[in-house]
Amino acid sequence: MNEAQLETEAEAPEEAAAVSTEESEAAGRKLDAQKAGARVGLTSDEIIINGGRPLKGRIEVRGAKNLATKAMVAALLGKTPSVLRNVPNISDVRVVAGLLALHGVLITRGEQGGEWRLDPSNVEVAHQADIDAHAGSSRIPILFCGPLLHRLGEAFIPDLGGCRIGDRPIDFHLDALRNFGAVIEKLPSGISLTAPDGLKGANIELPYPSVGATEQVLLTAVLAEGQTELRNAAIEPEIVDLICILQKMGAIISMEPNRVIFIEGVPELRGYDHRAIFDRNEAASWAAAALATKGDVFVGGVEQEEMMTFLNVFRKVGGDFDVHDDGIRFWHPGGALKPVTIETDVHPGFMTDWQQPLVVALTQAEGQSTIHETVYENRFGFTDALVKMGADIVVYKEGLHDATRRVKRREFEQAAVITGPTPLHGADIEVPDLRGGFSHLIAALTAEGQSKVTNLGIISRGYENFIEKLHLLGADFVYES
Ligand code: EPU
Repeated sequence: MNEAQLETEAEAPEEAAAVSTEESEAAGRKLDAQKAGARVGLTSDEIIINGGRPLKGRIEVRGAKNLATKAMVAALLGKTPSVLRNVPNISDVRVVAGLLALHGVLITRGEQGGEWRLDPSNVEVAHQADIDAHAGSSRIPILFCGPLLHRLGEAFIPDLGGCRIGDRPIDFHLDALRNFGAVIEKLPSGISLTAPDGLKGANIELPYPSVGATEQVLLTAVLAEGQTELRNAAIEPEIVDLICILQKMGAIISMEPNRVIFIEGVPELRGYDHRAIFDRNEAASWAAAALATKGDVFVGGVEQEEMMTFLNVFRKVGGDFDVHDDGIRFWHPGGALKPVTIETDVHPGFMTDWQQPLVVALTQAEGQSTIHETVYENRFGFTDALVKMGADIVVYKEGLHDATRRVKRREFEQAAVITGPTPLHGADIEVPDLRGGFSHLIAALTAEGQSKVTNLGIISRGYENFIEKLHLLGADFVYES
């Protein structure tokens, strides 16, 4: 099996239909922008935005990056092919597809946009050098451990990538895998795993409800011999969707109160047919963009339940929304925005991935907002660019004590205090990470004047067709693809 068997995104004609609303108008604008881009000599990693124009219109959000990539790994566990629908056209998906292809999974694209068929009938050991080529490109490879140990009895996992938002250790993953009976050897370019006595069910308590470590346990426990009890598990909607997929495959998993998950190992699993849950991080990002630019954006494909916590904050800040069967309309109703205090948290708390886009809107609120970032140790780096654009944001690297808070204080947390309203002005800014990068786009769209945003490629890791979506929403920009 080689990568030639994997149909590339560029070759897939159905992707052109992914953003179908007002398609021809957008295509026309894109052409203009491309011509203009050629004139000013931009690379495809750069965009010039003329800000100060409200975003208005409708865009669609597809499957969640943080589910689709894991669902693709789950396909390795089946005896028969799986079909995943609503797969977003983003580079993290392509990285996982490349790794699966290296391990012998045959991937074909269906006739409808975003439908992927994953056939794991001929899973095989991949060459370490080929796997190495994927080092640093994503964090998902760590989730190949359990499935590859079950299928092949061995696994090699390259050094991980993902956003630089602080130290991102994998100790919970490795401890859990050892509990199942895996033997782990650290190599200069990654880790090598074997399971000489097979993988057996385990009793595991996570020190923190880590999303990735919970997925690791699920993907390993389903085919391990005997029962697994996981305590202090993550219960994010993407985790529940992964559990639904595994149940379709034949797994026996029960979610109990108080973050406990029981898994009864079964001897074999079959393929699944599943539509990925929508991307709530992308949805919140476009909602924040609508608020910051005083716009009105209908985000199709979004559902209320998974967005409840975000919607409450959106309303408290002064935004308005309407929930429809096919999506949610977010808009700025006029008047002043209000400051808020937020602690990021695990589900059902306010997601860490939502804070960066929202911070841009908070620069326009009247008064002082505080964000306590409790999930990652360094997720305010993006605010430097906002300060350069005129925002008043002070980051407290040791965090701030706040008597009224709900979320237990974590050792390494930080806080940001945003005082507004401050007009933003255009600037040259470089995308630092995925969510921070999208917030830079929002800042450039909000600011008066011209901004040049570079290192755009990072945003493609998690935001499907965002350039086309900016066209659909009437943004004024120059981009050369
Ligand atoms: N942690 C450890 N040891 C571990 C694992 C995690 O100390 O072995 C710590 C982390 O350092 C962090 C906390 O636990 O402080 C939470 O990490 P978690 O494992 O929950 O995060 P993750 O699985 O690495 C996923 C998403 C992130 C999202 C977080 C929280 C994917 C691929 N990534 O990361 O998404 O922010 O959960 O919901 O699913 C993004 O999409 O931009 C993104 C960063």
